[in-house]
Amino acid sequence: MTQLPDLEQLLGDPVVAALARAEENAWFAASPTEATAGIKDSGIDPAIVADAQARFRRFAPWFAERFGDTRATHGILESPLVGIPDMQAELSARFGTELPGKLWLKRDDSLPVSGSIKARGGIHEVLQVAERIATDAGLMKPEDDARVLMTPEVQAVLTQHGIAVGSTGNLGLSIGIVASELGFKTTVHMSMDARAWKKDLLRSRGVEVVEHAGNFSDAVEAGRKTAEEDPSVWFVDDEASLMLFAGYSAAASRLAGQLKAMEITVDEQHPLIVYLPCGVGGGPGGVTFGLKLEFGDAVHCVFAEPTHSPCMSLGVRTGLHDAISVQDIGLDGKTAADGLAVGRPSRLVGEHLQQMIDGFITITDERMKAFQGLLHDTEGIDIEPSAAAGFAGPWRILENHDYLNAFGLTPQVLANATHIVWATGGSMVPAAEMAGYVAEGQALVDNVIWG
Ligand SMILES: Cc1ncc(COP(=O)(O)O)c(C=O)c1O
Repeated sequence: MTQLPDLEQLLGDPVVAALARAEENAWFAASPTEATAGIKDSGIDPAIVADAQARFRRFAPWFAERFGDTRATHGILESPLVGIPDMQAELSARFGTELPGKLWLKRDDSLPVSGSIKARGGIHEVLQVAERIATDAGLMKPEDDARVLMTPEVQAVLTQHGIAVGSTGNLGLSIGIVASELGFKTTVHMSMDARAWKKDLLRSRGVEVVEHAGNFSDAVEAGRKTAEEDPSVWFVDDEASLMLFAGYSAAASRLAGQLKAMEITVDEQHPLIVYLPCGVGGGPGGVTFGLKLEFGDAVHCVFAEPTHSPCMSLGVRTGLHDAISVQDIGLDGKTAADGLAVGRPSRLVGEHLQQMIDGFITITDERMKAFQGLLHDTEGIDIEPSAAAGFAGPWRILENHDYLNAFGLTPQVLANATHIVWATGGSMVPAAEMAGYVAEGQALVDNVIWG
């Protein structure tokens, strides 16, 4: 384990000091790293992205058959991209700065099957594991329709295998729903902050839910340990899995298709700026990798984290990655943002992708909830609070003249910008719980500091 420098030395960096005070904070790359160089330096093989896309296509008939909410897309898992002009106008008024360009929302909150960005990665890994087991058993060939997995012969094999995962909620939900559908014995280790409805839903599908008194890292560790003891159990590692990462990255080419269909140009004169809520980092990291492959230097990726749990910002800023936790700088790691209460970042993402992450912002729970309330009032869209973490991003960029200058974001270029706030979760939240979030958010709108 890396030796931590002493706290005083760490706090000598004004960004780390602001993180330690749980203040909202933003810091950006000093200069651009060319996307091609960033991809090469990551050491991650770009071929995993096309492989994941092909796997999702192969499984489309299986999804269409097993999950009613995918029938309308013939089994393709996709979420809409929607313009949010009223939210843009409202936020411009509240921040006191007109946002040039256009503000959009990527609605992964309404992704089919499990209603969050984690569905892309979690489902992908389960499909890959199922295919591998069936292929190794000589019961599946590459050209086979994925529905072969439901034949009694393959089911007899899959039911002998287990899948385990540690999760704050949405990853567990994604894995649990799909793995149980495929016949795996599925165990989800959940941290204490996971919502009761997620545990209930999983149990109703026959998933074993193990509750842990500790935090996210403890739940992951417990899952890893039980899987190590039993070779028939596959452990999905939220902190380090490339299969998860590949699933998230598949979002990028689809987004490119959506933008193209709407005749939205993306190039260096028409930048795409994406704001991604970050927990352990896999979801935003995978999407960033896919986007940089797809759009090169024309895309900017900004990660958004809660002020009490800014693990990725801290890990990258200090260069310590998973060797430092937010608790090491005195933070409690507690946040109302489901899925973002992560104290230690993924090293896979922090270390290997750091050059591709263009900026880091943190946001208080109050402002996150206020954004969520405003989105309800202006656009009639309900997402979970964590999914609203990115909304301050465009205004944080506008006020950072060093970044604007270093990345060539002149007023003329900014006028052509496409800003996408990635809404990462929400549609599975029970109505009563969502109504509670909305009411709380609405009550906060006039009580938080804007500007
Ligand atoms: C709603 C939501 N948004 C964002 C994230 C962040 O994803 P990651 O932990 O991969 O960074 C999560 C993680 O569970 C989530 O549930």
